[in-house]
Amino acid sequence: MTAPAQTTAAPPPTGDFAFDDADFNAIARIAQEEFGLHLVPSKKSLVYSRLSKRLRENAMKDFGSYLRFLESDGGGEERSALLSALTTNVTNFFREQHHFDMLANEVLPPLIQRARAGGRVRLWSSACSSGQEVWSMAATLHKLCPEAASLDIRILATDIDPVILQKAKAARYAERDVAAIPEAMRSAMLTKVAGAAEEVEIRPELRALISFGTLNLISPWPFSGKFDVIFCRNVAIYFDKATQALLWHRFASLLPPGAHLMIGHSERVAGPAETLFASVGVTAYRRNETACPPIPSFPSPAAKAAAPRAATTRRS
Ligand SMILES: C[S@@+](CC[C@H](N)C(=O)[O-])C[C@H]1O[C@@H](n2cnc3c(N)ncnc32)[C@H](O)[C@@H]1O
Repeated sequence: MTAPAQTTAAPPPTGDFAFDDADFNAIARIAQEEFGLHLVPSKKSLVYSRLSKRLRENAMKDFGSYLRFLESDGGGEERSALLSALTTNVTNFFREQHHFDMLANEVLPPLIQRARAGGRVRLWSSACSSGQEVWSMAATLHKLCPEAASLDIRILATDIDPVILQKAKAARYAERDVAAIPEAMRSAMLTKVAGAAEEVEIRPELRALISFGTLNLISPWPFSGKFDVIFCRNVAIYFDKATQALLWHRFASLLPPGAHLMIGHSERVAGPAETLFASVGVTAYRRNETACPPIPSFPSPAAKAAAPRAATTRRS
């Protein structure tokens, strides 16, 4: 994902393709309308270098042709590839460990009690990237509640990028990616992959807890039920302030009083939703009793216009 806004002017891009301000603005508009990404002009060189590879791969002669392709009915896959090119999927097992400590010590115990009494419990990793976040959630849950799969307790894992989501779902990782997980947790989460010396995979008892789906956080969502815990970490920072405020508000509408929202280390709940949450730890929030006001204007006119072309929610 592109780095947050900087104030320094970027040097003009040089390379195989002409790329003027109009091209940059057209890319920035698509990124904003379809994915909520906020590309500032100082990112022009970075956008050029990431996208010139896409032009080559698609045998496009210039940015004008690429933009026409992107906006055509057949451009859906390429719009996903555009997002992947402009974003990063950086993640890690037990990243921001304090959220997993809080899950284990405060958040999950009463939820497990409810599930054991026959109740429904739902958790959501809403920008799960290649899966390390959601498998860390599942491992934390499974450690406290080994019978979780037999109860009505499930975790939804979504990301806008179908390619990275396939990796999450495949649940296979290189040994070096799991080396930092403490040994006891590692053996509870992972098994060796037969015939692949350097690879491990997530145990089936953890896999049984998760369903995966593609979902664009700035599109309409398909949920009818509420969530008890939402993780939305290290993605909102790349949205503009208005999109962030709307996102917190929409999360609040899905969280009943007492439910939790965990966000990334450089993010902060702000805007109208601030009054709907209590801060209960480092980038951890609990939904309070205040009724959620109606969500102002969602989808926005721009998102509505983009809706037929935007990545939609699809279970995979
Ligand atoms: C930096 S990773 C964060 C992964 C994980 N949540 C963590 O904190 O380690 C950001 C993820 O957000 C996803 N993403 C970007 N824009 C999105 C959008 N509009 N809707 C849903 N996911 C999005 C990207 O595909 C990427 O996998």
